[in-house]
Amino acid sequence: MAILVTGGAGYIGSHTCVELLNEGYEIIVLDNLSNSNDEALRRVKEITGKQFKAYNVDLLDKEHVTDVFRENKIDSVIHFAGLKAVGESVSDPLSYYKNNITGTITLCEVMQQYGVKKLVFSSSATVYGTSGNVPITEETHLGATNPYGRTKQMIEEMLRDVYRSDQEWSIALLRYFNPIGAHKTGRIGEDPNGIPNNLMPYISQVAVGKRQQLQVFGIDYPTRDGTGVRDYIHVVDLAAGHIKALKKIQYANGVDAYNLGTGKGYSVLEMINAFERATNQTVPYCIEERRPGDAAICLCYANPSKAKRQLGWQPIRGIDAMCEDTWRWQYNNPNGYEKVTKTNKASK
Ligand code: NAD
Ligand code: WQD
Repeated sequence: MAILVTGGAGYIGSHTCVELLNEGYEIIVLDNLSNSNDEALRRVKEITGKQFKAYNVDLLDKEHVTDVFRENKIDSVIHFAGLKAVGESVSDPLSYYKNNITGTITLCEVMQQYGVKKLVFSSSATVYGTSGNVPITEETHLGATNPYGRTKQMIEEMLRDVYRSDQEWSIALLRYFNPIGAHKTGRIGEDPNGIPNNLMPYISQVAVGKRQQLQVFGIDYPTRDGTGVRDYIHVVDLAAGHIKALKKIQYANGVDAYNLGTGKGYSVLEMINAFERATNQTVPYCIEERRPGDAAICLCYANPSKAKRQLGWQPIRGIDAMCEDTWRWQYNNPNGYEKVTKTNKASK
């Protein structure tokens, strides 16, 4: 029986595929390569020495999604596929609602048709919106403040309704905080399209000379040094959390949400210092105005104790490893995955 990994060619998906294969799982990847490159899948096979089937299929294409289930014995699904850029979701909300929500509906319809009712879903800390209280627990009030976060919150509610209608379902909702880092080989990593929105890929592109300097968005927040604080988690620790959630849904029906974070917050300036210390590189920066949307969540870190208690999971990699592993990936792949199949990604 195989694990279907939707979005398996992406940043977190590819790292989870490595961990699944290393644990002896049979996997099948479904990905439309809209924000990734199949070079990542080739490297997953290289790192693990394992083979697996990959389907270049869009979740919105029900006929071909059905083919994947007809052609394979699928036991459970880890669902990463989705659009994830907050800013883009504000300028193009319909694409986000269509891709993320309709894509998930199609996936669940085909799962139901084939009697596959075990699902791990990629949710996000953005569902918490601007609750203000930290550390954030799973009981913290939800209130996404952008279309991207609302797609995640709506999908969580939809999956709860699916379970209420059929209690044979077993669903884990994993709310990631800020994933960063890369596999220790430096062969797979985060490969953002164009100018990185997120802090760590921008820092590493400055360090490698691809960008001139980092803009620090705001130094007037009520935090230790005035810059934004976030809960950064190593992507390999995050991947390990999916294995634990996959095991949990094998024997317990129901729907449960889990925060996957470290419980520690680092400011932007602390991240710059950590990166420089861990990599012996310098990261020039300038102070700019606050970024729209950031203002309300200046301080955001998780209480991950439920995942520790109920999944037996806890992150083990610290900030130095996150920086070192990011740098190894960036340094060895200054342009990300060489555009082996140029049509797979918009030009950088
Ligand atoms: P990513 O863009 O690297 O990976 C997503 C993958 O899904 C890509 O390979 C893309 O080609 C694929 N995809 C998108 N729409 C698809 C569709 N309709 N059909 C088939 N494939 C499709 O992103 P990521 O950082 O690996 O994130 C994975 C998941 O985790 C996403 O759902 C994201 O919302 C969520 N998440 C990410 C972060 C983060 O900071 N990276 C934080 C919280 C949650
Ligand atoms: C972190 C801190 C910025 C860039 C993202 C999105 C979304 C989510 C992960 C999916 C903030 C500061 C950043 C830069 C900076 N993924 N910063 N200069 O803000 O938590 O949001 O989290 O769910 O992608 O919600 O992460 O990495 O964008 O920013 O000063 O060039 O770094 O202001 O304080 P964030 P981020």
